[in-house]
Amino acid sequence: MQKGHVELRTIREAREQDLPGVEALLGSFNLAIAGVAQHLPGFLVLEDAGCIVASAGLELYGSAALLRSVAVAEAFRNRGLGEAMVTQLLHRARSKGVRTVYLLTTTAQQYFQRLGFETVPRNAVDPATTASAEFGDACCATAVAMRRSLEGRG
Ligand SMILES: CC(C)(COP(=O)(O)OP(=O)(O)OC[C@H]1O[C@@H](n2cnc3c(N)ncnc32)[C@H](O)[C@@H]1OP(=O)(O)O)[C@@H](O)C(=O)NCCC(=O)NCCS
Repeated sequence: MQKGHVELRTIREAREQDLPGVEALLGSFNLAIAGVAQHLPGFLVLEDAGCIVASAGLELYGSAALLRSVAVAEAFRNRGLGEAMVTQLLHRARSKGVRTVYLLTTTAQQYFQRLGFETVPRNAVDPATTASAEFGDACCATAVAMRRSLEGRG
């Protein structure tokens, strides 16, 4: 597959063998790796020429969920991959009975605002999701918390 010919339908669910590639992608952007292995079945990825070039993950905590690890390699940006992965994960969350999705970000607050998330104080985050290893990760200590309600939206 050549750059410029990536199709959104090639986004797929992560497999166990994708873990090193997902961790390498996240590490290259200083995004948290803690807990990724545990929650890999909730991840979406895009693979190109044997490399993981995009990822996004959802951790489920009952009626709440944590969206994390949204990352797209630079050569694959600005073609809707991030939005497509987030949209798929929000659909999945809704189908699992999740009412509110949270995330932490240090770099992409405006990006997620465009995707319907609002900034909230850290103490407004559902305590169930703060059990996530991402919350304990040093790189997320200064991150902004964001929230999107899934109730009443199509
Ligand atoms: C944020 C990220 C996932 C977006 O991926 P993408 O596939 O390029 O995004 P999309 O194609 O869905 O959207 C592109 C649009 O978002 C904008 N955008 C991308 N990153 C942004 C950011 N950090 N803040 C604000 N806007 C951003 C682009 O300028 C573009 O805008 P346009 O449509 O007006 O041209 C990608 O830039 C990335 O991996 N960044 C580094 C890792 C990161 O910070 N992840 C967030 C962790 S919580």
